[in-house]
Amino acid sequence: MYFIPEQLNIQTQQLREHTVFNNWDVMTEGWYIALKSSDLKKATAKSCLLGKQRIVFFRGDSGSVYALDAFCPHMGVDLGLGNVIGENIQCLFHHWQFNENGQCVDIPCQEEVPSNVCLAHYAVTEKYGYIWIWPDQSSKAKVLEIPELEDKAIFFKHDEAYFRGCHFHITMVNGIDAQHLRTVHDLAVNMQASLCEPQPHHLEISMRGEFPQGNKRAQWMRKLFGGQYAYRMIYAYGTIGALTMMQNVKLFGKWNLPMLHMLYAYLPLKEKRSKVVPIYVTQKRKGVLGWIISHFLLWLTQRLFYFLKEEDGMIYENIRFNTNSLLKIDQPIAKYIAYINRLKPSKWSARDIGKP
Ligand code: FES
Ligand SMILES: [Fe+2]
Repeated sequence: MYFIPEQLNIQTQQLREHTVFNNWDVMTEGWYIALKSSDLKKATAKSCLLGKQRIVFFRGDSGSVYALDAFCPHMGVDLGLGNVIGENIQCLFHHWQFNENGQCVDIPCQEEVPSNVCLAHYAVTEKYGYIWIWPDQSSKAKVLEIPELEDKAIFFKHDEAYFRGCHFHITMVNGIDAQHLRTVHDLAVNMQASLCEPQPHHLEISMRGEFPQGNKRAQWMRKLFGGQYAYRMIYAYGTIGALTMMQNVKLFGKWNLPMLHMLYAYLPLKEKRSKVVPIYVTQKRKGVLGWIISHFLLWLTQRLFYFLKEEDGMIYENIRFNTNSLLKIDQPIAKYIAYINRLKPSKWSARDIGKP
């Protein structure tokens, strides 16, 4: 039988519960990754499970994408089976039609359409080749961009999604866990973390350090990239992370090297698993040489990410995360947890916060 780690050792190893962090009943407001844009052609519909919410996405004849609660208000058939007619979705069962706002606009067996027959509709946008959804009708927030690449033309590359047997809030801790760089990745780097909230609902964490002498891997890094090492994580609404590696790095201490950027898009799945979609991003450079450099950097980002991911993978498949014994060195993690706990639960949360 499959056991969920949080349900084990309840009496002997008490778990500290959090209002939002690592809480499967809560989905915060934020942009959630849903479908590849190329997987939703014009005049087609598809349903997806996002946490505990079944949503139908459909692309109208105009090319615009819409998202509604998936179950038809008549008898509950999944609208993902239906047909798209113009900018409406038609239920497969009795052919009721709903517009982009979820309002029922046609019932074939009668002329009158009751005004109270409607579905919740959600804000959607397309970015990085994906369709993203916000668990409310509208949002002023943009899908997270790398600050250095804002308003610039970019190249991006998706990678295969990977899955973890824990809440994605826990996998997000990885980037700021200074101790594990030494113990898991064999990087003898003494990291200093600084945290700030550059805008509401965003957390920026910069990790800086020096490669000490002694460790072979660190010495090799020191020769190639100079003595300093720095990277930065930005979390937006707790649903997307942006990692920037190779900040201020000079090759052989002389030549500035470009920074490497990637995004992590997170999604809770049923049975308490999480999905993570990596997206590599770089500036679009001009000309054939620019194309080659940009794509080389995307490839390099992917290689570095694989190197780190493979060493961590089994940790996040075998963890019952608890915050009862954090040390001083774990302060960035404590601050990150406090940030997550301040995020606003969305209407997709299974219960109101504070009303268990
Ligand atoms: S169940 Fe959808 S129209 Fe009847
Ligand atoms: Fe790691």
